[in-house]
Amino acid sequence: MIPESFQDYVKRQREVIDHALHAWLPAPPVCPPLLAEAMNYSLDAGGKRLRPILVLAAADAIVAAADRAPGAAASSTQAHGLALPAACAIELIHTYSLIHDDLPAMDDDTLRRGRPTLHVVYGDGIAILAGDGLLTEAFALLAREPRAGAEGDLAVRKLRVIERIAAAAGALGMVGGQAVDLEAAGTTEIPGRTRPSLDARGLQAMHAMKTGALIRASAVSGAIMAGGSDAQLAAVDRFASEVGLVFQIVDDILDVEGAADQLGKTAGKDAADDKPTYPLLFGLEQSRRLASEGIARAEAALGEAGLAENHLMNIARWVLGRKN
Ligand code: IPE
Ligand code: IPE
Ligand code: MG
Ligand code: MG
Ligand code: MG
Repeated sequence: MIPESFQDYVKRQREVIDHALHAWLPAPPVCPPLLAEAMNYSLDAGGKRLRPILVLAAADAIVAAADRAPGAAASSTQAHGLALPAACAIELIHTYSLIHDDLPAMDDDTLRRGRPTLHVVYGDGIAILAGDGLLTEAFALLAREPRAGAEGDLAVRKLRVIERIAAAAGALGMVGGQAVDLEAAGTTEIPGRTRPSLDARGLQAMHAMKTGALIRASAVSGAIMAGGSDAQLAAVDRFASEVGLVFQIVDDILDVEGAADQLGKTAGKDAADDKPTYPLLFGLEQSRRLASEGIARAEAALGEAGLAENHLMNIARWVLGRKN
């Protein structure tokens, strides 16, 4: 059961995140109007904002921890001020990843966040550039903001977050996972190369890269910006790595069970494209069980570090029970 207070929390954080996204994303006249329009088309289409909410909730968890680390933010307001740029940057990167994921050269999807995909409306060229713009602006934002707010080591925290998010988004993270996905689905046909088939371990590794890495980086970035200790960061990372895998298992299940009007994206697409997924390898029931087990391990990771009294577990339960 997700408590009502958490629903309020999510609603409030979404408003703050949406406001900040618009304040920080370049707009006309300095940004070419067509590009700004395209970036906003995808950004404003009504995503769940799960990753930025996770950034802020992880920052809250550090503030709420009984044995607060030296240098940790003193209040939730201060922690949110420090973590909000990372929250927004990760949503920009995530939105770019969706735009490119939907392109004809990749998953070739026509519906996203309940709207026709960006390339359907603006063409492939502008969709590629809007993705490139969102990705690059994310790192400009991380370098620029916040300008103040942490005692002494603000620049160090920002650099750690930049490194972490770059690693999660890049060749060892999301981009790497997407390449494995395309190769395993046979989307990339390269003469002389045979299509690899993924076993359970390979599938888990692919999911950890393409989806898990950015979800892990979200939680860890929030904890870094709030001044968490190394032990707290490690616990948050373990928690989020479980949640990240569960997120993609559920995504695979919803692709089988969900309907387009509920998902805001086309259902049944993975099977049609011959994608390696959890339901394909394990069946639906076993996939559901694996997802529940991941959430139990996520809870244990938080408990061991004394980080259980906050919204992180509510987010984990949301990820497990989500219908879109
Ligand atoms: C969809 O992510 C892409 C995957 C990583 C499976 P979300 O389900 O978080 O998409 P939005 O942001 O709510 O649209
Ligand atoms: C893509 O996974 C994850 C990304 C990095 C964008 P999917 O291809 O399964 O995402 P959906 O189902 O299109 O949202
Ligand atoms: Mg894909
Ligand atoms: Mg896709
Ligand atoms: Mg999917």
